[in-house]
Amino acid sequence: MSTICATTWIKSSHGANEQMSGPVIKRIAILISGRGSNMIALADAVSDGTIPNAEAAIVISDQRDAPGLDKARERGIEALVIERAGRTRDQHDREIVSALQSRQIDLVCLAGYMRVLSAEFINAYRGRILNIHPSLLPAFPGLHAQQQALEQGAKSSGCTVHFVDETLDGGPIILQREVPVRDDDTVESLSDRILVEEHKLYAEAVAKVLWQNRGR
Ligand code: GRF
Repeated sequence: MSTICATTWIKSSHGANEQMSGPVIKRIAILISGRGSNMIALADAVSDGTIPNAEAAIVISDQRDAPGLDKARERGIEALVIERAGRTRDQHDREIVSALQSRQIDLVCLAGYMRVLSAEFINAYRGRILNIHPSLLPAFPGLHAQQQALEQGAKSSGCTVHFVDETLDGGPIILQREVPVRDDDTVESLSDRILVEEHKLYAEAVAKVLWQNRGR
């Protein structure tokens, strides 16, 4: 991972300016397509120190009207739209990767980002792209995970944070949390309870990955 160091200059006892390095600050990008509640949970976790030594550096949306964009701006986070409309997947991803690289991003968090990434994007940030999914993977990958759980009569579901690779929701799992399914659950009620856990789990997973990569 590339690093940005908080650096302080101090006057030494013999009068020379000496450099004192603070903690390495990892720069996080969060990609969204819509509401952005996981993005907010991550940004707040950075602010309150649940994710230490990190900065929510940019939010990128592939949808111009994603409600999460304004929420990011309200928090003082740069919010950029790179619309998928009118671009091939490769063109779109190249523009995103270029925006990430120009801002020296260390870690990319997909948070309700509804476009499958190209191989080029994955290769550019391999092992440094995370996603959150509302099921206990490998159960119920893809769209409508909560509906799949209800239709298949699952007694429990939950959420998973995993690394992104070329498979659909199949990359190495970082953390999971179980959420029981109730007999009277609807897609909405189950989604709401899973979402509460998603917000906590994603912050924990990001903190874990950054800790494991400290010094890199
Ligand atoms: C979440 O349920 C997440 O697990 C899934 O998409 C939803 C995004 O919600 N990938 P939000 O935009 O973070 O509120």
